[in-house]
Amino acid sequence: MKKIIKNGTIVTASDTYVADVLVEDGKVAAIGRDLPSEGLEVIDAGGCYLFPGGVDPHTHLEMPFGGTVSRDDFETGTIAAAFGGTTTVIDFCLTDKGVPLKNSIETWHKKSEDKAVIDYSFHLMIGEINEDVLQEIPQVIEEEGITSFKVFMAYKNVLQADDETLYKTLVMAKEQGALVMVHAENGDVIDFLTKKALDEGKTDPIYHALTRPPELEGEATGRACLMAGLADSQLYVVHVTCREAVEKIAEARSKGYNVYGETCPQYLVLDQSDMERPDFEGAKYVWSPPLREKQHQEHLWNALKNGQLQALGSDQCSFDFVGQKDLGKGDFTKIPNGGPFIEDRFTVLFSEGVKKGRITLNQFVDIISTRSAKLFGLFPEKGTIAVGSDADIVIFDPAAERTISVQTHHMAVDYNAFEGMKVTGEPVSVLSRGEFVIKDKQFVGELGKGKYVKRKRFNAAENKQMAALSKS
Ligand code: URP
Ligand code: ZN
Ligand code: ZN
Ligand code: ZN
Repeated sequence: MKKIIKNGTIVTASDTYVADVLVEDGKVAAIGRDLPSEGLEVIDAGGCYLFPGGVDPHTHLEMPFGGTVSRDDFETGTIAAAFGGTTTVIDFCLTDKGVPLKNSIETWHKKSEDKAVIDYSFHLMIGEINEDVLQEIPQVIEEEGITSFKVFMAYKNVLQADDETLYKTLVMAKEQGALVMVHAENGDVIDFLTKKALDEGKTDPIYHALTRPPELEGEATGRACLMAGLADSQLYVVHVTCREAVEKIAEARSKGYNVYGETCPQYLVLDQSDMERPDFEGAKYVWSPPLREKQHQEHLWNALKNGQLQALGSDQCSFDFVGQKDLGKGDFTKIPNGGPFIEDRFTVLFSEGVKKGRITLNQFVDIISTRSAKLFGLFPEKGTIAVGSDADIVIFDPAAERTISVQTHHMAVDYNAFEGMKVTGEPVSVLSRGEFVIKDKQFVGELGKGKYVKRKRFNAAENKQMAALSKS
C-alpha cells in the first residue's frame, strides 16, 4: 500500500526542509509540500526529523573469533540495528586460506538470508593473494556485488596478512574498481609486547591497551596509506582511534591520495580507564584497537567535523560478559575482542555530536549514512531521501530523552558498553524499503525480509570529488 509521511523535516547530507514523502513500491515516489493523501496510509511525523536510514559499514554478526562466536547474529543484530535507526549493514565475510572465496561467501549467505530484518551486504576478507584468489575476484565482484576487500594488519597467526598481500590487494582493487579496507595495527610488534606482558605476569584487561599503543596504530595506518599512494589505489581505514592514525590519514589526503577513514562511537565517548574497572569488568571494554586516553576523543571529533574521517562504523562484535569475555580471566589475550554497538551508533552520534554542537545536522546524516553509501557503492538507493531512492527512512524524535541500558536494549548480549549514558534523540519508526520494521518503538518487521544487496564498484570520481570538497 502507498504511504505518505507528512509534516516531517527531511534531513539529507546537504539539506534540511519540511516536506511530505510519498512511498510507493518500496521507493520514494515523490517529495513535496501538501501532497494529496486520499486513500493512502498517512503517517504523521510532525516534530520529527526524517533521516535516511543509517548505513553501518562495519559489523561482525555471528562471527567465529577468539575461540567463540560473536553473540549477536543476523536476527538479533539486525533487529537491534533497526531499533537504533540503521537500515543497512555491511558485514565482514571471513575467509580461510586455501578455501575458495565462494565457499566463505556461501557460509555468510546461510547465516543471514532467513534472519536479516533490514538490508545487508558483505565485505570480503583477503588473507592471502595467490593465482586462485586473483582468478576468483572478478566473479565475486560481478556475481556477488562485493566491491570492498578487507586486509587485517594485526591478529598475528589468526587473521593477519603480510604487506605483500596488502599491496597486491591494493593493485587488484585499483584494476577492478574496489575499495580496500584495513585494520591498521602493527600485529608483529603487538605479538611481541603481549607475550612479554604475560611473561611478566601482567594478565589484567588493561594490558590489552598497554600492549597495543597508539603508535602502533599510527605506524600501520601510515604504512597502509603509503602503499595506497604508491599503488594509486583506494583505501579505507576502519576503526580509527587515535591522533597518530588521524594524522597519517590527513597527511595522505593532503597529498591527494584516495584514503578514507572511519571511527566508531565507542572511541568518541569511552576511554582507556574503562578497561581498569574492577572485578574483571574491564573485559567488557576489550576490543581492537583498544580504547585510548581521553585526549584522543577531541582529535576524532575534529577529524569528523573537518572531513579527515568520513564515516562511523559500529564494529559490532558482541560477546557476553558471562561465558565469553571470561575466557580471558587470568590472561587478557584470551578475552574475545569486540563489543556491542550496532544499536546505539546512530543515537550516540546524534546526541554527542549534533546536540553537543560538535557536528551539524547535515554532517550527522553524511557520517551516519551518506558517506558509507557512496564509498561502498550503495548510493543513491541507500544513503539519502530522494525521489527514486529506497524508502529506508527513520522518523526520529530529536527531543526524546533516555538512558542507554542492557535492560532496554535489543541486542542479545548481556551488557551494554554505554550503560547509564543519557542520550537525547530516538528513532520512533523505521522503514526499510517502504515497510515498517519499527513502528512507534515496537518491532513489526519480519525475519528474512532484509535483502542481500549487491553493490556497485568503487566510484573514484564521485569519491574523489568528495575528498576535494571536504578539504576546503
Ligand atoms: O575487537 C574487534 N574490533 N573485534 C572485531 C574484529 C575487528 O578487528 O574489527
Ligand atoms: Zn552466493
Ligand atoms: Zn578490526
Ligand atoms: Zn571490526
